[in-house]
Amino acid sequence: MSSNSLIFLCIFALLLMHGTSTEFEVGETLTKGWGVPPAKDPQVYNQWAQKNRFKVNDTLHFKYKKDSVMLVTDPEYDKCRSTQPLYFANNGDTSFVLDRPGLFYFISGVSGHCERGQKMIVKVLDIESPPAQSQDQTAAPDQDANDKNDASTTTHLKYLGLVILFIVGFFMI
Ligand SMILES: *[C@@H]1O[C@H](CO)[C@@H](O)[C@H](O)[C@H]1NC(C)=O
Repeated sequence: MSSNSLIFLCIFALLLMHGTSTEFEVGETLTKGWGVPPAKDPQVYNQWAQKNRFKVNDTLHFKYKKDSVMLVTDPEYDKCRSTQPLYFANNGDTSFVLDRPGLFYFISGVSGHCERGQKMIVKVLDIESPPAQSQDQTAAPDQDANDKNDASTTTHLKYLGLVILFIVGFFMI
C-alpha cells in the first residue's frame, strides 16, 4: 500500500468518527409530534426519552401545531410553568441542539398542556456511549427497529473507523 492511500485511509477513518451526531424526532411514531399525550399515556415523552441515548450535539426536532417548546429549570418543570424559560420557540418546527451533557427539562408553554403530560426530561450523556442495549418494543415495533438499525449503523461506522486507524497505525510503526 502506498503512503498516499494510508493517509487517505486515516483521513477517511477520522471523518467516520466525526460528525456522528443524530437528529431525534421527538416522540417519533408514539406521539406523532409534540402535543398533549393521550390521557392513558401521560408519561409517553419520558418513556420515549428514556429509551434513547442522547449525546452532546445531537438534535431534538419538535414538530407541533399551535403549541410551544420551553426549556426550563427542574423546579419549573415540576410546577409546569415558567415566566422566564431558558429557551422558547413556537414556530411549529423547532430544532434544539443538546449542547452540553446533563439534564434538559422541556415543557409545553401552552396553558394546561404540561399538566396533561406534555413534558419531557432528556438526559445527555457525558462520555461516549456504549452500543445501545436491547430495548423493549411494546409500541410501534417497526419504527423502533428502524431507529435501532440507524443507531447501530452509526456505531458500526465508528468501530470500523477505529479498526482502520488501528491497522494503519500498526503498519506505519
Ligand atoms: C459540538 O459542536 C461544537 C460546535 O460545532 C463543537 O465545538 C464541539 O466540539 C462539539 N462537541 C462534541 C462533544 O462533539
